[in-house]
Amino acid sequence: MNNLKPNEVYQLNRIKEAILNNTPFDDVLKLCEEINPTIDDPEFAYTYAACLLATKDRIEDAMRMFFKNREDLFCSIMYDYLKEIGAFEMVSKVFKSAKPYHIYTQTPLYQTHEKGVVENICNFAKNNPPPESESLVTILDIGPGDGELTAQYVNKIASLHNLKSIRLVFVDPFEEELKAAEENCKEKISIPCEVIGICSKIQEITPEQIARIRQVAPIWFVNAALSVHHMPREVKIPMLKQMKAFSSKFILSEVNWNHDLPEKDSPELIYSVAKNYGIFCRDILNLPVSEEDRKLCLYHFPIDEAINIIKQERPNRIDYHTTIEEWKKIAHEAGYLVHDPVATYLYEDKPFLFVMGFYGNE
Ligand SMILES: C[S@@+](CC[C@H](N)C(=O)[O-])C[C@H]1O[C@@H](n2cnc3c(N)ncnc32)[C@H](O)[C@@H]1O
Repeated sequence: MNNLKPNEVYQLNRIKEAILNNTPFDDVLKLCEEINPTIDDPEFAYTYAACLLATKDRIEDAMRMFFKNREDLFCSIMYDYLKEIGAFEMVSKVFKSAKPYHIYTQTPLYQTHEKGVVENICNFAKNNPPPESESLVTILDIGPGDGELTAQYVNKIASLHNLKSIRLVFVDPFEEELKAAEENCKEKISIPCEVIGICSKIQEITPEQIARIRQVAPIWFVNAALSVHHMPREVKIPMLKQMKAFSSKFILSEVNWNHDLPEKDSPELIYSVAKNYGIFCRDILNLPVSEEDRKLCLYHFPIDEAINIIKQERPNRIDYHTTIEEWKKIAHEAGYLVHDPVATYLYEDKPFLFVMGFYGNE
């Protein structure tokens, strides 16, 4: 879901050129019809042109172009969105309200992934027991959300190693998430649980916060589940180096998408957004929730993110999802040994979501 061939990129760049030059709709359409047969995904030229027209605020033209590929889920959702909202703008900032994400966690896609993450953390814990010297074992969890996933894996590894108590260090930029995670973990974790909440983006923790985390060393492992894709590659590397100073083991769960290195308006970026968010939205459409909740989830979460990634210049994106191959290189550059990834959700036999362990020197 991430790769276009060089010739496809070349052809699609002709559409970009035309739209940058403000070419009238009918001529762009003709160009798309000429280019579509040359690419493996036979209607993608329409999707690409529609997204570029939307970014140039040619909303009527974008809608007509999305409609040309309305069989594609991403295009049909974007068509409805533009019809209703009237602009290619984000309706909210992601995670402002926890509800859209909470609805999404009911999807089979997320639940399959969550189960896979818990299973993989258990496998890790089997092979890497906690420091023997410690009666209070400490885990650093980056971006715990509402703490549901954390509570699940902690309960499993607590019984696996017969832990008597656990200390969780949460780092999250949102106070509400820290509060929800602490409450949820204290309620659901079956052993005494101490929580230290650090309110910050992980890439921006202050020297005082670093010192606070160091006070609770040794840290058994760092867990980052869907939380470290909010920074570009050049920030991911120093962030990982910092984490290596806290613990020699880092468990990453992420989506295998390509929204970090490709530049704004590039065929590669829009291909990854349209394909991956299309798959991501499919399960939300099938959820047994009210129409109102479905729209809340779609518009305030995946579509919000997709518009942000498409519209913003690279330095201003909120999301920088990174492919498995690129994560391997990043971890390697940060000085880790990289373990083979395990897919937690497959789409057409390829990892859509995955877990991967990075190991530093003891
Ligand atoms: C998609 S949720 C994942 C929640 C949970 N870990 C899970 O896998 O279900 C992302 C979490 O990361 C947090 N987050 C976003 N940007 C972050 C950053 N730069 N550093 C740390 N946490 C961040 C969000 O507030 C949210 O709690």
